Amino acid sequence: MTLLQTRPPLPSDDRRWKLVNATMRRNGYAGHALIETLHSVQDAFGFLDETAMRFVAGSLDLSLSKVYGVATFYHLFMLKPKGRHACVVCTGTACYIKGAGRLVAAMEERFGIMPGETTADGRLSVLTARCVGACGLAPAVVLDGSLQGKLVPPDLMAKLEALD
Ligand code: FES
Repeated sequence: MTLLQTRPPLPSDDRRWKLVNATMRRNGYAGHALIETLHSVQDAFGFLDETAMRFVAGSLDLSLSKVYGVATFYHLFMLKPKGRHACVVCTGTACYIKGAGRLVAAMEERFGIMPGETTADGRLSVLTARCVGACGLAPAVVLDGSLQGKLVPPDLMAKLEALD
């Protein structure tokens, strides 16, 4: 990207975008940073959606089709989940130490799905992220885009069961 090109603003004030932006900045917003940047999106959000791909494409001066092509070619990238609701459990170090594994186990027991899976009725998808930028609130979960901190399994189950 040349100095004359303007980069898109962060999609929202969600601090996770700053983590993604930091990866691109560290690489001088160069196109070769695409895969590392997509990893950074997935690590922070648990999956790649169109908003993220548009932001990355605009920031790295790449076409959306190029970004989408790379995201779908590599099976290690997870596209936006199919469930009506998405529960992203942070399994980074701080959250792991504070019991993220118990949250994952509770969801498996209650809903029969592991991270990366969606319930048969399409109601809920469970994903994991590597750090959602809220380590002080560990263990943290992002439920339909809303950060929930210091969760214990019964609280999370109550929130999930209250979903439509
Ligand atoms: S490790 Fe979970 S928010 Fe950072």
